[in-house]
Amino acid sequence: MEEIERLSQLIIQSKKVIVFTGAGISTESGIPDFRSPGGIWSRYDPEDFTIQKFLSGPAARRTIWRMSVEGGLLTEAEPNLAHHAIAELHQSGKLDCVITQNIDSLHQKAGVPEDKVFELHGNMQRVVCIGCRRRFPMLEVLQRIKGGIEVPDCPDCQGILKPDAVFFGEALPQETLREAIRRAQNCDLFIVIGSTLVIYPAAYIPTYATEAGAKLAIVNLTPTPFDHYAAVVIRGKAGEIMSKVMAEVRLS
Ligand code: APR
Repeated sequence: MEEIERLSQLIIQSKKVIVFTGAGISTESGIPDFRSPGGIWSRYDPEDFTIQKFLSGPAARRTIWRMSVEGGLLTEAEPNLAHHAIAELHQSGKLDCVITQNIDSLHQKAGVPEDKVFELHGNMQRVVCIGCRRRFPMLEVLQRIKGGIEVPDCPDCQGILKPDAVFFGEALPQETLREAIRRAQNCDLFIVIGSTLVIYPAAYIPTYATEAGAKLAIVNLTPTPFDHYAAVVIRGKAGEIMSKVMAEVRLS
């Protein structure tokens, strides 16, 4: 496929590559995305995942904790071929960073160092206390939920515990967002993998990159609003495509 050749050439010619990922990169690891048929928002109402709802009382929190456990957002998933291809890009010295909307830690599990992963929407593997801001591993809190505590509170200050993912209506982590924008304005190739690019402010970031002169590439099963800005669009599955792309880069 000549688009694969085109993307591998763009990578070979680049010094600072940024990979921007959405839930579509993790579907091949068994984690459902949000807007594909059968995705999370076809089973749950996004309105139930607003910060206002979460803070409205213990009943709402009980529902959200139960949905988070049942909804497949907390599975012990493993990185797939696409995550490993990005980790190989890191090992090649060309990856400036990964900017991800995902909350599953799969980029880190595949070998991209923590300081090269900017998690715009937080991370579901951690829990934060809204009161004292202490953080705990999600697995610890899950044990308590499985032990029958339906609405866990902070063991230190008895404050409200919340999954450390960004809920609708909640501000994104400002320092992470600022640094992600700065990086996007200083890269020469910006590769989007597995995102509908419809949720802002995350979806602004590809524009920061292209307006600063970077080339845009999009690897996605379905069209996105940014396709016509891209130097290359590859329609297909991220694992297969990124493996083929890195196989070409390796030969260079
Ligand atoms: N390979 C390539 N693309 C894929 C694959 C795959 N294996 N599986 C799914 N996709 C594509 C889908 O076609 C879709 O365009 O990935 C995209 C996933 O889009 P969304 O489900 O909208 O996920 P995302 O873009 O990450 O959503 C952004 O919305 O609900 C909020 O906070 C949540 O971070 C999330 C944000």
